[in-house]
Amino acid sequence: MKLAHSIPLILLTFSLLIHHVFKASAQRVSYIVHMDKSHMPKAFSSHHYWYSSTLQSIKSVDDPTSIQGPKLVYTYDNAFHGFTAVMSKQELDNLKKSPGFLTAYVDDIVISDTTHTYKFLSLNTATGLWPASEYGKDVIIGVVDTGIWPESPSFKDDGMTKIPSKWKGICQSGEQFNSSLCNKKLIGARYFNQGVRAANPGVTITMNSARDESGHGTHVASTAAGNYVDGVSFFGYAPGTARGVAPRARLAAYKVLWNEGSYESDALAAIDQAVADGVDILSISISYRRSVLFENPIAIAGFGAREKGILVSVSAGNRGPSLWTIVAGIPWAFVVASGTIDRWFSGTLTLGNGRKVTGWTMFPARTTVRNLPIVYNETLSACNSVELLAEAPDQSLIICNITDESIEFFNVMNYLSRSNVRAAIIISEDTRTLRSTSFPHPGVVITSAEAREVISYTSNSDNPRGSIDFQQTVLGLEPRAAPALAGFSSRGPGRIYPGILKPDIMAPGVLILAAYNPFTSTASIGNNVHLASDYTLLSGTSMACPHISGIAALLKSAHPEWGPAAIQSAMMTTANPLDNTNQPIKDMSYNLYQEATPLGIGSGQVDPNRALDPGLIYDASIQDYVNLVCSMNFTREQTQTIIRSRYNCSNPSSDLNYPSFIALYNFEERGVALTRRFKRTVTNVGEGAATYNVKVEVPNSSTISISPRTLVFKKKYEKKSYTVRIRYRSDRELRDQYGSLTWVEESGKHTVRSPIMVAPGLDNF
Ligand SMILES: *[C@@H]1O[C@H](CO)[C@@H](O)[C@H](O)[C@H]1NC(C)=O
Ligand SMILES: *[C@@H]1O[C@H](CO)[C@@H](O)[C@H](O)[C@H]1NC(C)=O
Ligand SMILES: *[C@@H]1O[C@H](CO)[C@@H](O)[C@H](O)[C@H]1NC(C)=O
Ligand SMILES: *[C@@H]1O[C@H](CO)[C@@H](O)[C@H](O)[C@H]1NC(C)=O
Ligand SMILES: *[C@@H]1O[C@H](CO)[C@@H](O)[C@H](O)[C@H]1NC(C)=O
Ligand SMILES: *[C@@H]1O[C@H](CO)[C@@H](O)[C@H](O)[C@H]1NC(C)=O
Repeated sequence: MKLAHSIPLILLTFSLLIHHVFKASAQRVSYIVHMDKSHMPKAFSSHHYWYSSTLQSIKSVDDPTSIQGPKLVYTYDNAFHGFTAVMSKQELDNLKKSPGFLTAYVDDIVISDTTHTYKFLSLNTATGLWPASEYGKDVIIGVVDTGIWPESPSFKDDGMTKIPSKWKGICQSGEQFNSSLCNKKLIGARYFNQGVRAANPGVTITMNSARDESGHGTHVASTAAGNYVDGVSFFGYAPGTARGVAPRARLAAYKVLWNEGSYESDALAAIDQAVADGVDILSISISYRRSVLFENPIAIAGFGAREKGILVSVSAGNRGPSLWTIVAGIPWAFVVASGTIDRWFSGTLTLGNGRKVTGWTMFPARTTVRNLPIVYNETLSACNSVELLAEAPDQSLIICNITDESIEFFNVMNYLSRSNVRAAIIISEDTRTLRSTSFPHPGVVITSAEAREVISYTSNSDNPRGSIDFQQTVLGLEPRAAPALAGFSSRGPGRIYPGILKPDIMAPGVLILAAYNPFTSTASIGNNVHLASDYTLLSGTSMACPHISGIAALLKSAHPEWGPAAIQSAMMTTANPLDNTNQPIKDMSYNLYQEATPLGIGSGQVDPNRALDPGLIYDASIQDYVNLVCSMNFTREQTQTIIRSRYNCSNPSSDLNYPSFIALYNFEERGVALTRRFKRTVTNVGEGAATYNVKVEVPNSSTISISPRTLVFKKKYEKKSYTVRIRYRSDRELRDQYGSLTWVEESGKHTVRSPIMVAPGLDNF
């Protein structure tokens, strides 16, 4: 544990730090421009000269703001073709008439998605994916985020072999970042801030290098592929050996999120560079506000990455629990929802009569709460003001009832810290309070049911007394089944393209322990003592995404012949829709604890060992994605922004060979039966001949017919197709209607499951 020198609590929400204003059209702003490279005249030796020359030619003489002319910020050539430049509106209008121009849009801001997993995921050294993949050996994961803290023990290269020869990246030096800081684990580091500078002329970048000032990128990278580190904990909680999901995979950090601002153009430059550098997996735990496919940078650059065989894994976002809160539901990205794990941090309250109650606590120190008088006074029990708490006896253990939703846990902690009350027993039903990591005053949180016994003892005893023991970590079933879908996890359908079910899958993303910037405050005692730690617990879909990136690295290593679609299919069709009590996974939103639907968890919780041997896969080539984009009724320029001139729209089709199904309806068609048809092709990746029969869970108010109902494969890699017809009625009462389709091998060895979702379309939401 280190004391951070009076560093204020840093809010991890970048959205609070960034204020981007779309400036009036007369002003010069950064535009991201997409070009059709097939129009590049032969005279130009490179795209860079062509773009510079094009910009020279659009300089406008009538425009008084155009003295210096347009300024080139980035050129892009690997994941897609184009550039970012600072221009006036008039210059942009001129540019639109230039040969090869496709589309242009204002450079928008981006937002990071923050708020023992390997054991919970059943990864083990004896069997399954870890040994089969040699722990992800030689697979390179590119992390696009806030940079990296290279000295973290998670990035030591003990036990790592020499860097794969395909790697072309660099370790870029910069402020407090020596290029010798990379090693055989952290094989690359680069930073991109031309976009921030162009949008904020004269801005001073406080850490002009790949060094991670916030800790977010370090956390994400070490979750995906951190090396083994013994004896870590968060102030005594979650102690053990830290390790990433793919402890032998390589990491390359691309810093695009800055304290000074975060822009799409920088993220685009990073993805474009990562493709050229030779990453295998891109892990992107950041959100984009753009809900238009041909203007979303991850959609555009991610398409180019996918074309090069790179799997792109992105966080679903932290805008849940409302539906339609997934912005970047990109068809060719792996979109990850966030769930809980079976770990609980607790303190034990021992009453004077010997009874013990286990509550939630994360008070970050060992402290003495021994045999203190318990106070339960209904007048004071809200604990909701400094004045009230001043009436409570000094050095007491007070019972605070904050089940009334208007009382904020954070405020109560603050008032307690300013009082002479020694510790608190807090009654709450709020799942956020029951998992709060900010716990600056000693105490435990218990539920109303647990409180009954405590209150009864206190009221019936002449001298009620209690003690609390801190820093306990509980694993297993109690007190709640896991995984459960986190309330904050964004829900589908995806706004960017609702025709494919998003999110795709769920992974651990609540209270994940991973490496951090050791000088960033992560906990506090009272209101003045701020603590930092080189490992910290964070929650968010940002934390779930690198779990999927790490598992994808393991699968890529175990099955080098699989492309991104096959890896994604293997994880989706083997995901588990049940929790560790064998009940459907629950949704923690609104404290309701209802069944989660595929719009929250996609196919379910990732099960890495089963993904190693999925039996069948739903493969898709880049042409299939081209056909999908071509079906979206975009203009030629919009389509080419994504697919570029190499492809044409000769065969548009919205029926992508995807391992899940979604059927949308309109309320206007209320009571009318609608029909959607899907065709799917599965490839046998099991060993030898196999026969599969279909099993269907039919969504409410639907009928489903499947043809054929048996698939007979004679050999490995044989393909078989089937069709699905879903007849369904729009219905105001039954909004969440879902089921599944599972191919079950006759031998019982493999089951290949796809979720089916029937939901209202956006117009009816
Ligand atoms: C970088 O580190 C190496 C090895 O520690 C050292 O020799 C070199 O002087 C450092 N360079 C800079 C610019 O600090
Ligand atoms: C509860 O607190 C109020 C305010 O301090 C005090 O007036 C009252 O006597 C207390 N009740 C008991 C039973 O101690
Ligand atoms: C806590 O306060 C609420 C009202 O705010 C009340 O309904 C509930 O009974 C109280 N719980 C206990 C255990 O006293
Ligand atoms: C595209 O346009 C065609 C013809 O107008 C229509 O049938 C189809 O539903 C449209 N597709 C989408 C995705 O809007
Ligand atoms: C479109 O692409 C297909 C497949 O690459 C090719 O066979 C066809 O000739 C192309 N059509 C046009 C008009 O370019
Ligand atoms: C189907 O409808 C029943 C009755 O309304 C409901 O209890 C059940 O949860 C629904 N199931 C699904 C999967 O929508």
